[in-house]
Amino acid sequence: MPDAVKVGFVPFATPARGTLIVFCDDGLKFGATATKALGAAVATVKRAAATAQFKGKSGSALDLLAPEGLKVGRLIVVGAGKAASINDYDLLKLGGAVAGKIGAGDTAVTVVADLPTGAMKPEQAAAIASGIRLRAYKFDRYKTKKKDDENGAANASVTLAVADPAAAKKAFTPDSHVVDGVILARELVNEPPNVLYPEEFAKRAAQLKKLGVEVQILDVKAMTQLKMGALLGVSQGSAHPGRTVIMRWNGGKKGEQPLAFVGKGVCFDTGGISIKPSASMEDMKGDMGGAACVVGLMHALAARKAKVNAVGAIGLVENMPDGNAQRPGDIVTSMSGQTIEIINTDAEGRLVLADVLWYVAQKHKPKFMVDLATLTGAIMVALGTEYAGLFSNNDQLAERLAAVGQSTGEKVWRMPLGPEYDKQIDSQFADMKNTGSRNGGSITAAQFLQRFVDGTPWAHLDIAGTAMASPKNEINQSWGSGYGVRLLNQLVAEYYEAKK
Ligand code: BES
Ligand code: MN
Ligand code: ZN
Repeated sequence: MPDAVKVGFVPFATPARGTLIVFCDDGLKFGATATKALGAAVATVKRAAATAQFKGKSGSALDLLAPEGLKVGRLIVVGAGKAASINDYDLLKLGGAVAGKIGAGDTAVTVVADLPTGAMKPEQAAAIASGIRLRAYKFDRYKTKKKDDENGAANASVTLAVADPAAAKKAFTPDSHVVDGVILARELVNEPPNVLYPEEFAKRAAQLKKLGVEVQILDVKAMTQLKMGALLGVSQGSAHPGRTVIMRWNGGKKGEQPLAFVGKGVCFDTGGISIKPSASMEDMKGDMGGAACVVGLMHALAARKAKVNAVGAIGLVENMPDGNAQRPGDIVTSMSGQTIEIINTDAEGRLVLADVLWYVAQKHKPKFMVDLATLTGAIMVALGTEYAGLFSNNDQLAERLAAVGQSTGEKVWRMPLGPEYDKQIDSQFADMKNTGSRNGGSITAAQFLQRFVDGTPWAHLDIAGTAMASPKNEINQSWGSGYGVRLLNQLVAEYYEAKK
């Protein structure tokens, strides 16, 4: 079970057993309910805090076993920092910090959802609960020998003591569906490439049918008929045939233009004939992080019954060297009719996206398209692993993405586009080449994609640095981060969903 932690809500009360968790601010102040829960133990806590030099800094913790004055076996005081200015993302991280403290011995955990500024509002308690779930996730399906101390919060049962359990539960329901979407995306990214090849990935996407999502799978024959020569060129060297999956969630008004999300789904990227060096090549199982995000997002939207029409489209291939593999020098004709000279078979993501973007633009005429792709190593050189690169032909869409990036903590940094970069991808033999020079590699990749959006308002997120192998943090301990699900869910919720 990747995410077996159970999170529930109960009315405020002091537990008689298990583990008690309370919050304080960076002045070691407790709220009224936390103070009540601590009762006679307040003095013990003050003494312990002085010895441990615990100051209540955000995310820090003071740990007391068999605390004097309490019946519980363990008391953990978690610092909330500046409680007055705490936002939803801070609360998510705080929930993560809580889960990070839970050990294998803490099977029954009570968290008092109270701050010095007052009892947490339902949405705030829900954010703590989401943070706990996100942090507790781990990918251990293929470990046959599990160590006792490895599990942490994964098997715990956590209860949040809140002012109004019904209201908190109601607030958590949609958020919990979004967490499910993030975890689904992480699962897909973490799965090994011998298990998760294009057909298997398509099958997993098809599971969304259970939530009312329409799922259409285009096989090689269908893609050949559609003349998706760019995508098919990439997959032709693999024993596993490619797939394109179109998911549609119709939660909005009938006939209303959909929003579209497009993902790069390279289930394994060896580089093809332009083969990659072997160091870290195993990481290229995560080259489908964009597609994983789109599936996770569609899960979130459908499960929480978002009032929006949305299309998710993913191009699934494997990029392998083989007697049938495409060669540098090959010229392929994309679905758009534009021809592409292959210079480097390792620049395959843009070829896959070229056909899927064009298909979505023509077939679904979306209000906008956002694509996500682990597209270039160059974006990691530019931005590291904290920000995804954002490229867009539409300022409003870009600004909205930047805003939800800040509020969700899934940050984006806008990078330039411009016709000046086009000359890098001019070809002497075809309409364009698939690579430019080393300089500005992420930009020329985006510039290439732009040729296939047909004027549709569009944003491209280069998530090579954020989708996988990014540093572990408060809310993610797994290799695959599920980056983008919360970002795009928030974009939809804040700006595009019909309000009740
Ligand atoms: N999937 C890679 C990009 C990548 C590299 C993602 C490392 C995550 C970690 C992509 O297909 C690729 O190989 N890009 C090349 C492009 C180059 C050949 C123009 C790159 O970035 O080196
Ligand atoms: Mn590549
Ligand atoms: Zn790739």
